[in-house]
Amino acid sequence: MAQDDSTLQFDDKGNLRHLLSLQGLDASLLTELMDEAEGYLTAPGALPVRSQSLAGRTVGNLFFEPSTRTRASFDLAGRRLGADVLNLDVNTSSRKKGESILDTIYTLEAMQVDIMVVRDASDGVPAYIARHVAGHVSILNAGESDVSHPTQGLLDLLTIRQHNPDFKNLVVAIVGDIQHSRVARSASEALQTMGVGELRLISPPVLAPSEGRFPGARIIHTLAEGLKDADVVMALRIQRERIGNLDGVPGIDEYFANYGVSRESIKVAKPDAIVMHPGPMNRGIEIEGALADSPRSVITKQVRNGVAVRMAVLNRIGKMMSMR
Ligand code: CP
Repeated sequence: MAQDDSTLQFDDKGNLRHLLSLQGLDASLLTELMDEAEGYLTAPGALPVRSQSLAGRTVGNLFFEPSTRTRASFDLAGRRLGADVLNLDVNTSSRKKGESILDTIYTLEAMQVDIMVVRDASDGVPAYIARHVAGHVSILNAGESDVSHPTQGLLDLLTIRQHNPDFKNLVVAIVGDIQHSRVARSASEALQTMGVGELRLISPPVLAPSEGRFPGARIIHTLAEGLKDADVVMALRIQRERIGNLDGVPGIDEYFANYGVSRESIKVAKPDAIVMHPGPMNRGIEIEGALADSPRSVITKQVRNGVAVRMAVLNRIGKMMSMR
């Protein structure tokens, strides 16, 4: 996100109006959103929390890239808060007939969609839309190229806090295709804001981030060194859809042998270290299936937290709208 876009996220009273990135959200706002999300969690098997706080509002899901978790959880989050939810099927929309993204947005704006949840493969699209919508419309970034995935960063932060809230004494290791990962970017922004003790980014050199992209993080190329005494281990898939030329990217067996997070490779981490993955997982490539299904794994907890975090964000935006 461009530097001046961080102010675009707030209205003239300082309320969150758009969620484009976690840059510019301070520790107290991140904490408030996590605290609110905790209030939406119920025990497995119990009925979900419901309210009518967004009754009368319309949330539009516009996913110009595939998604299971983010799209489904924004859909459920909106409905559980009493909103009407429109899931635009992009593959059968008039975008396929050449309509521009802004014309699609203006069309939905005319239909009184108040909150648009946008996922797109190109850099800068959520902020571009936010600059063009009417003053009463809010834009939530649901995944932007390799740049940002703010609600994923929030749900990852909440999942880590549930394991250990003492961020300053935590070692967090993120392993995989760091260079093309918006999940790593948003997690890094959130963790740095919360004062994480140490953030390690582990990848083969060919998938390492460019200089300066992750300020404050340690870039490591050896898995055992990166996982040593870690409290949190997050595995990321190789984002093949964002890699033009796969030359130099290790094959599956070589990748798993050197960078796979497994019951064996995680032995050097802290004995109670948790294992995370944003999904979708490629079992047997970046993570061993048996580890993903083991008691150390908090992957399904991340998914549950995802609905709660998106409810917290939607509710915050709805409150801002009702204060106008
Ligand atoms: N983590 C995540 O964004 O998953 P989806 O692509 O399924 O939404």
